[in-house]
Amino acid sequence: MEIRERWGNRSSFILASIGAAIGLGNVWRFPYICYANGGGAFLIPYFIALITAGIPLMILEYAMGRRAQAGAPSAFSFLVSKGTEWIGWLSLFVVMLIFLFYPTIMAWSLNYAVHSVTLQWGTDTSYFFSNLFLQQTAGPGILGGIRWPILFALAIVWLAIYLILFKGVKVVGKVVLWTVTIPWAILIIMVVRGLTLPGAIEGLKFYLTPNFKALANPQVWLAAYGQIFFSLSLAMGTLIVYSSYLKKESDITNNAYITSLANCGTSFFAGFAVFSSLGYLAQAMGVGVPDIACSGFGLAFETYPLIIQMLPFWAQFFGVLFFILLLTLGIDSAFSQVEPFVAGFTDKWHFSKNKTLVIVCIFGFLIGSIFTTRGGIHWLDITDYFTCTYGLTLVGFLECVAIGYIYKSRKLREYTNEVSEFKIGKWWDVMIMIVTPLILAWSFIASLYQLIRYGYGGYPKWAIFTGLGILVLIIILSIILGKIGRKEE
Ligand code: ALA
Repeated sequence: MEIRERWGNRSSFILASIGAAIGLGNVWRFPYICYANGGGAFLIPYFIALITAGIPLMILEYAMGRRAQAGAPSAFSFLVSKGTEWIGWLSLFVVMLIFLFYPTIMAWSLNYAVHSVTLQWGTDTSYFFSNLFLQQTAGPGILGGIRWPILFALAIVWLAIYLILFKGVKVVGKVVLWTVTIPWAILIIMVVRGLTLPGAIEGLKFYLTPNFKALANPQVWLAAYGQIFFSLSLAMGTLIVYSSYLKKESDITNNAYITSLANCGTSFFAGFAVFSSLGYLAQAMGVGVPDIACSGFGLAFETYPLIIQMLPFWAQFFGVLFFILLLTLGIDSAFSQVEPFVAGFTDKWHFSKNKTLVIVCIFGFLIGSIFTTRGGIHWLDITDYFTCTYGLTLVGFLECVAIGYIYKSRKLREYTNEVSEFKIGKWWDVMIMIVTPLILAWSFIASLYQLIRYGYGGYPKWAIFTGLGILVLIIILSIILGKIGRKEE
């Protein structure tokens, strides 16, 4: 029997998990989702989502991986039952969809780091992003050919992912030492810069003033749960495989608290950089903070460059710094999405890890190049929406049902308590068996209802059905892979 890889020490595991969690989701996605959902109005559901779903599911995934000593599909198969193996495969196909588009955002960041040197975007940053940089087509029906600078940067990103992963988790443990600390150092500089800008206080007021009326809006809740899943890298198979490289004596609960609080703390902290800068922008433009036009992708690639452009000094320096921040944040999340996918196949069929990694990286680059076309942004948006809203919540729901009712959450809790510094009480069973699955089921059904009723993002119906079709396809594929027998040793 082959010997499983091991982390060099406990801090490598914690840093790798924090690195997986802290990513573009914290600096690019969190502020945008927070802004779009009313700023301070969003923070309460976000915090509740962390307590009710984020921390309990992180404990569940760490415990599964450590106990089963295997990636997601084999962990379900060993621990719960062969019939639930497909849930593990489904999490891997969901993470596959994420690692197909996620490196493209890093490829944009790499291009923008170069553009920052000359502040090439000028004063009309939206025009630069859509028309000159992406050369965006009118809709998802027209791909419009490859944008070569983006494809070239994508190749560099995939090469970096390969080079970090091919030597195994010991190297990952060393890389994350840098990819976790460098973004933090940059973030501190960005926060200090933001807070010292005129108008910053208006931005912070918008960010920190709670709005209890917004709690009645289900959209705000859905957005908060989706963000917690994406940001903590839950339901992606990542945390299961990372904890499967833990030594037998390693703690679970404390590690889960550290990872989730470090991640959400970073998002909250990044919010200070973004909202203080938005306050500055609003004052300079003579509008209110809620009235600045800023969309999901736009915040990092349109609004931020505009803020950088308007900085009173060192604009180029802060531009390069911001996009390096995105790159260093993204890289450890990107390889944390590839690792569970590779491990899923090597754990079950004992394929060569290196060959599987090469194939997955080439596959990721080739299929991911769709997102580097002129119409790629539309598909990126659609894929992001389907994977984060439906894919992750579905897997999270299935994990709760499989562990809560088939394996029995009490058994996993007792096991977790045996090896952990902090003991978890019965509250955890209540979360896994009742609260979390109910909220996830509700958010899944409510989103589907809204999708069918209102569509999404103004995209044509056929594009929405393609997204739904891909979800159905990966469910079928997961069931098939789950049924195939294991190669005997
Ligand atoms: N957790 C990763 C992020 O936030 C996917 O970017």
